[in-house]
Amino acid sequence: MLRKIAITAVSALTLLSGAALASEEFEPVTKDVDFSFEGPFGKFDEHQLQRGLQVYTEVCSACHGLKYVPLRSLAEEGGPRLPEDQVRAYAKNLTVTDKDTGEDRPATPADNFPPNTGAGAPDLSLMAKEHAGYHGPYGLGINQLFKGIGGPEHIVSILTGFSGQTKDEAGSTFYQNDAFSTGWIKMPPPLTDGQVTFADGSPNDVRHMAEDVAAFLTWAAEPQMMARKRWGLLITGMMALLSVLLYLTNKRIWAPHKGKLNA
Ligand code: HEC
Repeated sequence: MLRKIAITAVSALTLLSGAALASEEFEPVTKDVDFSFEGPFGKFDEHQLQRGLQVYTEVCSACHGLKYVPLRSLAEEGGPRLPEDQVRAYAKNLTVTDKDTGEDRPATPADNFPPNTGAGAPDLSLMAKEHAGYHGPYGLGINQLFKGIGGPEHIVSILTGFSGQTKDEAGSTFYQNDAFSTGWIKMPPPLTDGQVTFADGSPNDVRHMAEDVAAFLTWAAEPQMMARKRWGLLITGMMALLSVLLYLTNKRIWAPHKGKLNA
């Protein structure tokens, strides 16, 4: 019986892995990035978020929107922490459609970032949570356990994954990209070295700008991440303390009765 089960298990595994290998025609590549916000003690780097906002504003917003992100959150704790007057000035440069009048007007901090669907590009508000960069082996998710879900890494990998090859198909141009699900993406390579100049003189090669904007988009998708981690740590600490106290109390309660059975 045991032997039968073992044989079945082994053949099932062989079949499964065979099927998995056969279906792997194109496997998107996700580069590993060490972000400051990883792990239970991780924090967003305010300056990196500010640089990411700049990359988003100067480059990505030409095609992408961020329609779920409130402009006022740019000033909030745990985010880019822009001074209030800068947020007002930033908002004023954007145009939103007024919900009541239906007319276009300059945005205020009470509005969200405007949507942008003109180029057929997806909204980036939740992009950092939309894609799991890490899978496997064989879809078991073991990599995710160790490296995280890989959303921001997916963004970095897309932005740095262009080979320079293009092809025209059905009236559209596709750009070869080893991080995109099909290997060919409709987005032209958006970044080139030195494209954005940072006030603090931070490196502005493609890779650094990609990491900065990926950090910014991770914050945009989860602005409360730092608060969540703080609560998580506090609660874990309290549970640990409670366990110790319960253990000691338990010992004390039972101490008089211990070892008396055989006495
Ligand atoms: C010229 C327009 C344009 C610009 C500029 C642009 N994008 Fe895109 N982007 C697109 C289009 C179009 C798509 C959809 C591609 C597709 O589905 O093939 C896309 C898709 C994406 C995706 C989705 C990839 C996936 O796996 O689904 C990400 C992430 C992305 N863009 C990030 C960015 C970032 C970050 C910037 C700024 C650095 C940027 N884009 C600038 C047009 C643009």
